[in-house]
Amino acid sequence: MTTILDDISRTFGEYLLIPRLTRKGQHPDQVCLRTPLSVIESDKSPGFQINIPLVSACMQSVSGPRLSIALARQGGLSFIYCSQDIDSQAEMIRQVKTHKAGFVQSDSNATQDMTLREVINLMKNTGHSTVPVTDDGTASGELLGLITDQDFWEFEDDLGKPVVQHMTPIDKVIYGNEGINLREANRLLHQHKKNCLPILDEDGKLTSLVFKKDYEDHQRHPFELLDESKRLCVGAGINTYDYRERVPAVIQAGADVLCFDSSDGFNEYQVEGIQWLRKTFDSKIVIGGGNVVSAEGFDYLVQQGEVDFVKVGMGGGSICITREQKGVGRGQASALLDVVVRRDEYFQQTGRYIPICSDGGLANDTQIIIALAMGADFVMMGRYFAMTEESPPQKTSINGQMYKPYWAEGTRRAQNWQRYGDDTQPREMLFEEGVDAYVPLVGNLAEVLEMTIYKLRSTMVNVGADSLAEFRKQAMLTLVSEQSVIEAGTPNVFQFTASRDFEDLG
Ligand code: IMP
Repeated sequence: MTTILDDISRTFGEYLLIPRLTRKGQHPDQVCLRTPLSVIESDKSPGFQINIPLVSACMQSVSGPRLSIALARQGGLSFIYCSQDIDSQAEMIRQVKTHKAGFVQSDSNATQDMTLREVINLMKNTGHSTVPVTDDGTASGELLGLITDQDFWEFEDDLGKPVVQHMTPIDKVIYGNEGINLREANRLLHQHKKNCLPILDEDGKLTSLVFKKDYEDHQRHPFELLDESKRLCVGAGINTYDYRERVPAVIQAGADVLCFDSSDGFNEYQVEGIQWLRKTFDSKIVIGGGNVVSAEGFDYLVQQGEVDFVKVGMGGGSICITREQKGVGRGQASALLDVVVRRDEYFQQTGRYIPICSDGGLANDTQIIIALAMGADFVMMGRYFAMTEESPPQKTSINGQMYKPYWAEGTRRAQNWQRYGDDTQPREMLFEEGVDAYVPLVGNLAEVLEMTIYKLRSTMVNVGADSLAEFRKQAMLTLVSEQSVIEAGTPNVFQFTASRDFEDLG
């Protein structure tokens, strides 16, 4: 007979945290946000940890190399998407692993005969105001000069003029030689009062750029997520279709964590994959499984598959239409709570703590906080990161407002059929499980994260918690009525601007 659960399917927006005792001396800056991604045996210290509890989704419109670098620099982790061929995924992972902190590959380059108008368009599209001018217009061509937005006046100068007439020519450019270390590069920037230092090889070809703003950023955000060789960490999405070929390639490229990217991970194909990986690779390899939305799904992956962490969520993603299309899924809060209770029981019984990732459907900072209070060890997000400068798609202007394209993996555009079925053969997508959309551009990742993290730290202090584990333990949540949601806003005063936090726009 059909089983009907007692409780209804609930979402994060239905809950509120009750403050607990804040102790004297507790301060948001002292809160520790480090959190595990690998299973913790009761008598051992955690294996792989991240420095902030946020990871980016395995999605084409989210986790490319640029975003992965930016997020790892802030202490989080990206999962480079597997809905691409194996070589290109491995190449993206390699780009993150070979990224030398502070040395960036230029992604806005010009030739000297490009017009000022073309350069302005380039600057607008990439958001970069310093453009190297090279002989072939590539990031590795011979450097002929630099042009920045300080070198012309957009509304005064003749925009048809070539770059060569406005750029700082190479004989006047301060540059560093390949092999220089970051400390020395920053010293040159400081000494010459420059914002950008190009690094050249012995043939005068551009190899990278060092920016003053990155130095400042590093000073402000000392939580970079680094491996034992001081390289940035990165994760790789994998699927149940080609893991035998994909996993060796992504591990060879340097992936630190693997995660099955599946809308429904409660299946035998995934467990078979995990068992194969456990047998074939070093036991230290970190593997995430999912997605599940019930204690039953959690048990299956943990007991049969020996995963390191379990990802929870189905149908709650901002671009997801799985529930409408197929009638499967579960409200994200209910799914998370069910799995968390089971995770804690399992820990009591076995002494093995399995971190949980709440994936998708987080509409604002408050919901990130509630998910962590409910027991998620970390959260995975797509939309949040898609809205930043660093997400892979080009930004675009619609009615004067800047947007970024954000498309689901279950669209015909992404063609990620592997995520939605575990057949052993490629298959045609007969219907879509997600939409192709736009999200407002909100700024660069560091700025956006700074606000989220500060709010999280501040709430943790309200609850008297110094760490995420304490936050989960201390958290006392209440369901809210519709009336109390209205009360939480400012319904009884008139505001001159309708300015709200960016996340309410999405
Ligand atoms: P968001 O943070 O609410 O935008 O949700 C991101 C999450 O949505 C991802 O991590 C995936 O789990 C999920 N997702 C991505 N593409 C699709 C889709 O086509 N259908 C359903 N869920 C999707």
